[in-house]
Amino acid sequence: MRIFVTGAAGFIGSSLVDRMLAQGHQVVGFDNFSTGQEHFLQAAGESPNFRLVRGDLLEFDKVQEAMAGADLVVHFAANADVRHGTEFPRRDLEQNTIVTWNVLEAMRRVGARRIAFSSTGSIYGEPTVFPTPENSPFPVQTSLYGASKLAAEGLIQAYSEGFGFEAYIFRFVSILGERYTHGHVVDFVRQLNRDAGKLHILGNGEQRKSYLYVQDCLNAIEVALNRSPDRVNIFNLGTNEYCRVIDSAGWICERMGVQPQVSFEGGERGWIGDSPFIFLDCSKIRSLGWAPRLTVREAVVQTVDYLTGNAWLLEARP
Ligand SMILES: NC(=O)c1ccc[n+]([C@@H]2O[C@H](COP(=O)([O-])OP(=O)(O)OC[C@H]3O[C@@H](n4cnc5c(N)ncnc54)[C@H](O)[C@@H]3O)[C@@H](O)[C@H]2O)c1
Repeated sequence: MRIFVTGAAGFIGSSLVDRMLAQGHQVVGFDNFSTGQEHFLQAAGESPNFRLVRGDLLEFDKVQEAMAGADLVVHFAANADVRHGTEFPRRDLEQNTIVTWNVLEAMRRVGARRIAFSSTGSIYGEPTVFPTPENSPFPVQTSLYGASKLAAEGLIQAYSEGFGFEAYIFRFVSILGERYTHGHVVDFVRQLNRDAGKLHILGNGEQRKSYLYVQDCLNAIEVALNRSPDRVNIFNLGTNEYCRVIDSAGWICERMGVQPQVSFEGGERGWIGDSPFIFLDCSKIRSLGWAPRLTVREAVVQTVDYLTGNAWLLEARP
């Protein structure tokens, strides 16, 4: 297969690129390196089956040119941070919704017809059904990130109906593992490296969250792409467990061998759009034979080990 991957230099995108190359596919990676890391594409760069295009998805002509000949488009590029949405209200619209339209329109023009898209559990806002299934009552949006991803999902669905695309929409919980660059584990490890005696947590620590190991996430995507027959295929991806932020903080401290004073800021939510409880019903993807290999705790610990061995990453992103 010839696969076009947006966000190829990112945490999840670069992990997918390596996997696709190992399976013998030809991959064109597209990235503007706004949050992507050169280092993540070092191995890929040595493969004759990989081509990197440096560019911004807002540059339509460049996207169309780079995508020509693709059998599958994996659209992972995004502004992936929920937290600072209200500081930069235009960013989610541009980086998540408008670029998705560019990707879809380029697909229509070059004749690419299959798309896999990284959506998010944040599109459920603050759901009332737990675990939350894909057909949960239509959510009220609480973050600009979630809203922009839901709008992107809508565009993908409409293009699929209108132009005969086959779409795979994956609503991830938070992803952990090798090459993890943003989220609470980086925040906590960074703080504890600076001062092992203090840990400041946004929110009251009681927020309940689900996490999934990156290789389990990629396994699920592969299973869905190989077995799911509908025009629009929507899957929640997560584990069948969750933890409190304070539990995760405890595992991180234990692994790092530290016992800090813990302080808290805010109440039930750590920031605007922080959902106090995320727990997705993943029985649909499980019915295809997929199951995660790592528990939430194992994924947290593995991420701490990765960051400890790659301390440069703690400062690589703001
Ligand atoms: N990491 C998670 O926990 C998580 C959870 C749910 C959904 N997602 C989604 O998964 C996808 C990948 O997330 P990630 O954690 O790997 O994030 P990431 O920030 O590591 O990767 C995003 C990549 O996209 C690139 N990019 C961003 N805007 C671009 C643009 N306009 N043009 C070209 N390249 C651009 C960045 O440089 C980066 O390499 C995103 O769509 C994100 O919203 C991630």
